[in-house]
Amino acid sequence: MSLVTTATITPAARVQGRLTVPGDKSISHRYALLAALSEGRSALTNYAPGADCQSTLTCLSGLGVEIARTGTTVTIDGRGIRGFRSPSATLDAGNSGTTMRMLAGILAAQPFTSIMIGDESLSRRPMRRVMEPLGLMGARIEAVDGHAPLTIHGTTLTPIAYAPKVPSAQVKSAVILAGLHTEGTTSVTEPAQTRDHTERALAAFGFEVKVNGLTVSVDGGQRGTGQSLPVPGDFSSAAFWMVAAASLPGSSVTIEGVGLNPSRTALLDVLRRFGAHVEVHPQSVAAGEPLGTVVVAADRLGTLEIAPEEVPGLIDELPAISALAAHGGQVTIHGAGELRVKESDRITTLVTGFRNLGIAAEEHGDGYTVRGTGRPRGGVAHAGGDHRMAMAFAIAALAAQGPSSIEGAEAVVISYPGFFDTLQRLVA
Ligand code: S3P
Repeated sequence: MSLVTTATITPAARVQGRLTVPGDKSISHRYALLAALSEGRSALTNYAPGADCQSTLTCLSGLGVEIARTGTTVTIDGRGIRGFRSPSATLDAGNSGTTMRMLAGILAAQPFTSIMIGDESLSRRPMRRVMEPLGLMGARIEAVDGHAPLTIHGTTLTPIAYAPKVPSAQVKSAVILAGLHTEGTTSVTEPAQTRDHTERALAAFGFEVKVNGLTVSVDGGQRGTGQSLPVPGDFSSAAFWMVAAASLPGSSVTIEGVGLNPSRTALLDVLRRFGAHVEVHPQSVAAGEPLGTVVVAADRLGTLEIAPEEVPGLIDELPAISALAAHGGQVTIHGAGELRVKESDRITTLVTGFRNLGIAAEEHGDGYTVRGTGRPRGGVAHAGGDHRMAMAFAIAALAAQGPSSIEGAEAVVISYPGFFDTLQRLVA
């Protein structure tokens, strides 16, 4: 991202309207990777429009996968489990941790060497969490002190039974994707449930996957078949509008076609605990992923504590949740140290930005507290190159007395390029 832009947020009494959100980022990555590993053509509709999911497509193109994209429709000609070509240049994952970690599991098993790079933020993020299990499978991956660039010398992998210490869907997925390239059964037992899109997507492409409590296993030597799949709306993008509605009394938003996978929707109960009125209308299931309509309206502003065991189910919604208490009520998050290794150190970026907007917030190790005390004065908040920070600040700034500026607002292109246009429509 070279263009640095500032978004001006004018205070709004409420948000109101009916909308859809862009395709789910997590699901889009997985459908693209599995389409490439399958045989035959796949057609993905409502593919996530953000830069992260384009990074996955760009890396796959670099591996010889034929991809055609028209807007949010993506056609991928699968090359099968052993069909990738040795890349002639580095593979650039951009800002996308999901691309780098999941693709590492696939590249570790290829009969060639590849080098994966990322932007400044991604090059600061921990990669040992995938290098360790893949190393146990026999992978040879070089990094710079546990960080990108990753030089992956592909080799024959052997299956493992792995129990990661950190709950991470990216780690689980990297090991499972590597397992597809082995002879034998690979399993991952998680310390807590994380999003299960990989498991559902594997089944959708015809790969057999077993799930037993917190253990997921796959056999190597399977073949997948290309599919035509719609991507549901991204619940984590929708979260910002749900929070805007829950924090501004008199608001009501209706979000249609949004993904309702239970491993992603813990926010709905959190909003109810805070005092919002939440309705959920399930509509259909596509490729194992449920979707439907969510209506959120503000009832009252409450006090909310998020406990450590809730964090894996809310990890991408915590920035939005913080904005609930921008002008009233209180939100305290515990046990969220993982936030420090996201696109930015989300604890420090968030607390600093909120304070700059005039909102009382304080860090405490692996968490923070936001205490709304009436309409904040507004101010200038820096997104720190982090899409979810830019959106959290914009929602928090709606509650201010005067206009605010979000610097680095262009970061929203990572997951939600149309975010500011939709914001304008909902406050009109
Ligand atoms: C993701 C998993 C989560 C999440 C990220 C997307 C995924 O990361 O924060 O935005 O698509 O698997 P971790 O696996 O690091 O928890």
